[in-house]
Amino acid sequence: MSSKPVVFVTRTLPDAVEDRLRANYEPRLNSDDHLPDANQLVEGCRGAAALLPCPTDKVTADVIARLDDSVKVIATFSVGYEHIDINAAQERGIVVTNTPDVLTDATADIAMLLLLGAARRAYEGECMVRKATWGAWAPTAMRGVHVTGNRLGILGMGRIGQALARRAAGFEMEVHYHNRSKLDPVLEHGAIFHADLDSMLAVSDVLSIHCPSTPDTLKILNAETIAKLPDGAIVVNTARGNVVDDEALISALTSGKLFAAGLDVYDGEPNIHPGYRDLTNAFLLPHLGSATMATRDAMGFRALDNLDAFFAGQEPSDRVA
Ligand code: DGY
Repeated sequence: MSSKPVVFVTRTLPDAVEDRLRANYEPRLNSDDHLPDANQLVEGCRGAAALLPCPTDKVTADVIARLDDSVKVIATFSVGYEHIDINAAQERGIVVTNTPDVLTDATADIAMLLLLGAARRAYEGECMVRKATWGAWAPTAMRGVHVTGNRLGILGMGRIGQALARRAAGFEMEVHYHNRSKLDPVLEHGAIFHADLDSMLAVSDVLSIHCPSTPDTLKILNAETIAKLPDGAIVVNTARGNVVDDEALISALTSGKLFAAGLDVYDGEPNIHPGYRDLTNAFLLPHLGSATMATRDAMGFRALDNLDAFFAGQEPSDRVA
């Protein structure tokens, strides 16, 4: 009998990560990458010591209550962990870990791509090229918003917000941020702190959202907060979809209150609000923030580092519960 801990892995992972899993654990892999439902999560964990889920798996209080007593640790393949009921895990004495740091740059890159794509009308331009509706060059055609020197408001100045601030410095943007607390000046990279969200919104020609999804941030971008942005502002979201009130954002993009939006995450994704699909001023990506080969390997390795530490009797470095 194998003495390696059994790990239930909910989705197909990159080859290098599955190889390392096979070397050190007895993994239950998902070779056809189906999305397990709640019962499959519970069944898959029967007799397993660990669960390695992804953001697509809803590890609810009900699922956790039904998990086999054998399950001691949940190591999610993600930095976000709102898909796991942390309190329920804590009550059952199950350790939970995530994968911070390793996806910071990839996600900040996507935020910059969305910022530029939304400001410079990349979706409309690409459609013109592909659909052969591109007419002669014209002085008044396809004018977007100038990025260099413009003001960027960062909502949530954690690792990814800071990485975007560093990138924005390369575009000579004036960076403002709102956060629970002011950062050490070394981490601010010259960004201007606003203790008050409204005061930051008022100077955000571009607003980029980087706060986690919590009860406090649910629909934090709504009709009221959008109204406080300058007319013609741009909204970028690479955090979580439910921090945005979709109806309010779609309405502001339709009325012209906002110039454009660049979105990578959506409430209820992949079944996004249908109102986004026809908006030519919405530059839309399908949750690609961490989707580089190197980053996805690094996320898997980070989850495994946490499992390795846990099974070696050490404190996992990314323990969140
Ligand atoms: C995460 O890790 O939480 C990301 O959303 C995945 O890209």
